[in-house]
Amino acid sequence: MRKYIKGTLGYVCLFVFVFILLGVIFSYLSDKFQFFLLIRPAESWFLALLTTAFAVIVFLLKRYHGLIRELNRSLEMINNINNNTYIAESETKTSFPAVSDINNAIREISRDIQKQVTELNEQSIELAKKNSKLDNAHKQLAASYEQLQSLMEQLNESEQRYHSLVISIPDIVLTLDENGNITYANRACRDILNFRRHDIVGKPFQFIVYGKHADEFNFEKLRRTVEINGEQLMQIPLLRKDGTFIESEIKFTPAQESPHGYSIQAIIRDITEQKRMERALVENNRRLRIINEFSQKIASEMELPDIHKTCVKTLTELLGFSGAACFFSEEKNKNYSIAEYSGKYFSDTDILKHFMQINFNRGAFSFIRNDKDGTVLDFGTFVELLAMENGNKVDIPPFRQIYIQELKNGDSGQGFLLVITDSNFKHEEIDVLRSICNTTLVAIENAMYLIKSKKNYVATINALIAAVEARDQYTRGHSQRVSAYAVRIAEEMGMNRETIEDLRIAGILHDIGKIGISDRILLKKGPLTKEEYEEIKKHPAISNKILYPIGLSERILKAIAFHHERYDGRGYPFGLSNESIGLEPQIIAVADAFDAMTSKRPYREPLSPDKAIKELEDNKGSQFHPDIVDVMVKIQRKNGIIIL
Ligand SMILES: [Fe+2]
Repeated sequence: MRKYIKGTLGYVCLFVFVFILLGVIFSYLSDKFQFFLLIRPAESWFLALLTTAFAVIVFLLKRYHGLIRELNRSLEMINNINNNTYIAESETKTSFPAVSDINNAIREISRDIQKQVTELNEQSIELAKKNSKLDNAHKQLAASYEQLQSLMEQLNESEQRYHSLVISIPDIVLTLDENGNITYANRACRDILNFRRHDIVGKPFQFIVYGKHADEFNFEKLRRTVEINGEQLMQIPLLRKDGTFIESEIKFTPAQESPHGYSIQAIIRDITEQKRMERALVENNRRLRIINEFSQKIASEMELPDIHKTCVKTLTELLGFSGAACFFSEEKNKNYSIAEYSGKYFSDTDILKHFMQINFNRGAFSFIRNDKDGTVLDFGTFVELLAMENGNKVDIPPFRQIYIQELKNGDSGQGFLLVITDSNFKHEEIDVLRSICNTTLVAIENAMYLIKSKKNYVATINALIAAVEARDQYTRGHSQRVSAYAVRIAEEMGMNRETIEDLRIAGILHDIGKIGISDRILLKKGPLTKEEYEEIKKHPAISNKILYPIGLSERILKAIAFHHERYDGRGYPFGLSNESIGLEPQIIAVADAFDAMTSKRPYREPLSPDKAIKELEDNKGSQFHPDIVDVMVKIQRKNGIIIL
């Protein structure tokens, strides 16, 4: 402004100076030359003023024109700001200070604007970069969202499937919290245990464990085991709402974290039917094993009492029936007598007396004979029939049912079997009873056949022995006595029943081979020649030849074949010694020698038992087995040997 004022003041001074100069010049010229008719000074100054004014006007016009042009340039500069054109400092300088100031201001503004534009551009670039990043992030986010949405859909679908699976599966699914309380139960809980969800949710798991198993169930221990070892399988009886129980198999598995904290999932399967079938299978196998063992055992029994005993004891002691009894009749259509009984039901003799004899062929029980598969009667019916049979009231303790089957084959009935139970017979039990009955029947038939065979056999043997002994009056009864002494020795030695029975038979038959020795040698009064003695020595071999086809036991045949062998090996016919001979032949040998010494002979009187024992002792360890001789001594000292 000062500059502007200073410039303007200069121009004013200049024009004042020009005015004065022109006034002076015009005044001089008018005075001297009458120039332009200017005659008065005032007119000269006026002319000078006009001239100056004209000059000023010309100057101003020129100046104005320059100013307009400069201003136009300034406008261009302003316009160029938008084009971001650089304004040099020289371009701002004009002859008009004010315009220069304006130009400078415009330049400053331009620079500021350029700077701001630059900054804005930089910011725009940054923003563009950020925008790009954001765009990428957005794209990723969008992709992630799509994946997430897809996963959520899959999860929802999976959850729905799981939920529908859990709801619809036949197994019970429970969720337990860390304290063992039930937090979830599926629909199967109601179907299997009859408990609704609100009945058990919030209750401890023990609430549905049956009876004493609830006290034994330790959830804390289970939880630790599941945490350490994972899945656990247990079989626990579970309570039903009506107080009954089911057998269950429970799989405890660690579950995901739930709103209730750590939890365990229990998948419960009802295995009641499976367990029942398992038990039935085990029971069936047990019965089959018992029947098998029974069949083997009873097949070896040769005596009727043993067969009856094995039968009733198997039924009560192994198969668990309350009572069992076998009835036997020697003759058809006669009363059947109780042959053997067993079980707690028959433990009282007052009860037993009602069962001592029953006629199953006639009267009240006769209808049973028509039922080949056995008859099952209730207690009431049986008591009525028994009362009809006995003719008076029967007072026996109650039972549930009784099974009666005839031990029958063809037309001949040998007996009946009665089996008592405290509960209804099961179908399988009836099958077992039939099997036992049939097996017993076979054993009885074998025993009966054996008894018959034995009778025939004994009669035949007795006839043979009688034929042998009839030839020599001095040896009559020898075989029976040897048999009796041998049995006595064997009993004293504690031998078993089969061995004693074999010795009884061997004693009777030991000299049967003498039937093949001629009377000339056998009945010779004087001493035997060597040849004759050799002939006598053949009788054990002849015995075996006679007896072998009969089918006697090996023990009997051996006892007969070796009864002339000696302890020291100097006997005949084989010269065997102790170990090779065996005990039974040596018992026969001692019994044979003792009877021979204590019997009368044509050439000597009988020895007394004491002397005979003394002879045995003298030959102990040489001819006779020392232990057997000692047994004879023991018998003599204890009771004295009775000479038969
Ligand atoms: Fe002999």
